[in-house]
Amino acid sequence: MKDNRLNLKGRKVLVTGADGFIGSHLTEKLINLGCEVKALSYYNSFNYWGWLEDIRNIDSIEVLSGDIRDTEYIRKITKGVDIIFHLAALIAIPYSYHAPQSYVDTNIKGTLNVCLAAKENNCRLIHTSTSEVYGTAQYVPIDEQHPLQAQSPYSATKIGADALAMSFYHAYNLPVTIARPFNTYGPRQSARAVIPTIIAQALTTTNNQIKLGSLTPVRDMNYVADTVNGFISSAESLDSIGQVFNFGSGKGIDIGELARSIIRIINPKISILTDEKRIRPQKSEVMKLICNNRKARSVLNWQPEFSLNSGLQKTIEFVESHLNYYKPQIYNL
Ligand SMILES: NC(=O)c1ccc[n+]([C@@H]2O[C@H](COP(=O)([O-])OP(=O)(O)OC[C@H]3O[C@@H](n4cnc5c(N)ncnc54)[C@H](O)[C@@H]3O)[C@@H](O)[C@H]2O)c1
Repeated sequence: MKDNRLNLKGRKVLVTGADGFIGSHLTEKLINLGCEVKALSYYNSFNYWGWLEDIRNIDSIEVLSGDIRDTEYIRKITKGVDIIFHLAALIAIPYSYHAPQSYVDTNIKGTLNVCLAAKENNCRLIHTSTSEVYGTAQYVPIDEQHPLQAQSPYSATKIGADALAMSFYHAYNLPVTIARPFNTYGPRQSARAVIPTIIAQALTTTNNQIKLGSLTPVRDMNYVADTVNGFISSAESLDSIGQVFNFGSGKGIDIGELARSIIRIINPKISILTDEKRIRPQKSEVMKLICNNRKARSVLNWQPEFSLNSGLQKTIEFVESHLNYYKPQIYNL
């Protein structure tokens, strides 16, 4: 029988967005698997590598500073690379209301640059999508056949990026797999995301109150190690080429219940205030996202391993020991 699995050990890999939350965890995992890693960090003049600064064995990899919007640069750094894990993106939904042009430039044109470079240099491409492309669920759990509905500029640009990546598979036979994670949380996630916001406010409140937007949207929350395993299992499987895979727990929780779960762990006296400026335009708010993960389970042999409770405990410990990175008093777009 043909073995359709690829051993990643010794493979030359490039991770874009390696300086970010999920990318830094993926980079660590790839190092542990014995890959030769190039990690792309978003250029800045401080030589600051984001969350790559936090990882062990940083000396064993090549860290590059650059910008996925630069066609020539991306072409250059992908030479000799076997697999590209493309995670770099602008990802905050509220900021996408203010700066849609930069989302088009980064998420769509940046992905085009990655696809062109992968084609030229014969790289396998694992492209990162998001459950936000589905918009409010028309049915649950959401499988990969669910219609795509752009309810925010962020979602629209990710739909465009996914379509471009898949078009390179169809038009040029580029070996592309699309990994589509549902909401992911864990150590190193920025304060713009709901779980770190709740935790950072709950740990620092002086009046036993925290401020949140709408409490009714339902999300499928996934610990970052499970999402990272989704990327790894996508790359290891040759059967995944030309396909999209959802990665999510299959369980939904509304934001109110999520906040109360965290509050119960940190300080049950805390109450939740609604902050109008955190509420999204009505038609833009995605009301329900719950993953159908059957395809990833059967084709990739992937399954989630962390319960929400154990993931939250780890995330609370991380935020508590890194409070200087969070500014709980400010609403971070
Ligand atoms: N966090 C989630 O819940 C979630 C869920 C589904 C999908 N995703 C996707 O996963 C990927 C990683 O998200 P994350 O949560 O780690 O976010 P993140 O913001 O922590 O990471 C994204 C990284 O991309 C980098 N970047 C942005 N613009 C760049 C540019 N022009 N050139 C080079 N690098 C650039 C940033 O420096 C940042 O570190 C994204 O593609 C996102 O759409 C995230």
